[in-house]
Amino acid sequence: MNNLNSSAASGASAPARQRDFMARVLELNRMREVPPAAFVETYGCQQNVSDSEKISGMLRDMGYRLADSAEGADLVIFNTCAVRENAELKVFGNLGALKHNKRRNPDMLIGVCGCMIQQKHIAETIGKKYKHVDMVFGTHALYRFPQILCEALEGGRVVDIEGERGEIVENVPLERDVPPLAKVPIMYGCNNFCTYCVVPYVRGRERSRSAENILAECESAAKQGYREIMLLGQNVNSYGNDLSGGLTFAGLLREVCKIDGIERIRFMTSHPKDISDELIKTMAEEPKICKQLHLPIQSGSDRVLKAMNRKYTRAEYMEKLRKIRAAMPDIVLTTDIICGFPGETNEDFAETLGALREAEYDMIFSFIYSRRVGTPAADMPDCLTDEEKHRNFDEMLKVQNEISKQKNLKYIDTEQTVLIEGRSKTNPETVTGRTEGGKIVNIGCPNLGGCEKDALTGKLVNVRITGAQTWSLTGEII
Ligand code: 5AD
Ligand code: SF4
Repeated sequence: MNNLNSSAASGASAPARQRDFMARVLELNRMREVPPAAFVETYGCQQNVSDSEKISGMLRDMGYRLADSAEGADLVIFNTCAVRENAELKVFGNLGALKHNKRRNPDMLIGVCGCMIQQKHIAETIGKKYKHVDMVFGTHALYRFPQILCEALEGGRVVDIEGERGEIVENVPLERDVPPLAKVPIMYGCNNFCTYCVVPYVRGRERSRSAENILAECESAAKQGYREIMLLGQNVNSYGNDLSGGLTFAGLLREVCKIDGIERIRFMTSHPKDISDELIKTMAEEPKICKQLHLPIQSGSDRVLKAMNRKYTRAEYMEKLRKIRAAMPDIVLTTDIICGFPGETNEDFAETLGALREAEYDMIFSFIYSRRVGTPAADMPDCLTDEEKHRNFDEMLKVQNEISKQKNLKYIDTEQTVLIEGRSKTNPETVTGRTEGGKIVNIGCPNLGGCEKDALTGKLVNVRITGAQTWSLTGEII
């Protein structure tokens, strides 16, 4: 990376120092006739979406207008994901396409940040092969974005891929999506080191935010009109393990439940080994906690689970599901599954299909294994061909689609409380929202005008379910 200037921090990390850089960029932008346009593209998980809300918040405070495409933008930021190779390939493809934009507008700035950048080989590739990129910064440098941008505006290429320092920087400006849903990170990083996963390497070890800061953020979101809080972390159930004498995750949930104005609380992601009886009891007892759980199983084969370092067997996982369903019979359960993990055989895959039939998830998120540089599984030999993996993957979807459809059909003629999120993107004549279990409901409201439909956003309405598809429900307001 010798052709790039390093902006690695000079020791000062406090947001106060960043506020000075923000003021400098704002001053520059105020001298322009029209506020410059910035486009932030997010790849990957909800944690990245949450990080992008911070980048957008800082951009807004530095005088940028937030645009919804790269076309004509003065600044483009890609906030990237490293979990699977196809997400990385997409970023490289889209970065390549930006060369034309930059040719048309040489003053345009391009930044790439997030998990991909935290991998040395990727940062090096961008440095060598994507010379039109002006800023490269990793997950730990996010809050230093004003400084990075300031240096880039002054004409330098900036790289800030410093490793983790273990700190959590609070009070970074935030530009949230419009109400009713607010995402609130409660912890960063992961200690689990599942053998296929790059997250612990790119996001570092688990660090919990203080309960005080989390609750203050939830309270402020409630005051701004947000009705639903999604608490975020790679493994929310180990919240607080790194803080002395603080709240457990269940304790934190109980505190969030006390906030006036917040009607629904969800969280993700949960590691099955850390789901405690205290959490199950809290979920069952607190009406504001949605009866929905995303509990990644990853595989139904004990042999594969061991090779994945998941630290539970299929029987132990199913025992947790039994406890959860005993306490909350109507809970909506979803999971993640990896197909084609190194060494997985067709017999192992049959075990996974068996687990899907046993668990009867409402929905699954399934992925074909993607080799990640530096993870233990990257060196494990494969048993199945790509063709076999794809065949198994398709079969898994077929099995699950039928289960999902059957589960959704049971909702027909029931009444559900739906939190309306706005007009449907595919059909503006309908509004869309979610049940307590997180199922999408599309609601036709033929008797309501456009303004009346918009006025429903953020409201909890009673809906009779009239139709069921594999991925969603349809209904009418009662
Ligand atoms: N290949 C495929 N899927 C992966 N996941 C994590 N790492 C990989 C990988 N290398 C999946 C897991 C995880 C979800 C967020 O992404 O199922 O739960
Ligand atoms: Fe990755 Fe496992 Fe941590 Fe989830 S729990 S982020 S799959 S290492």
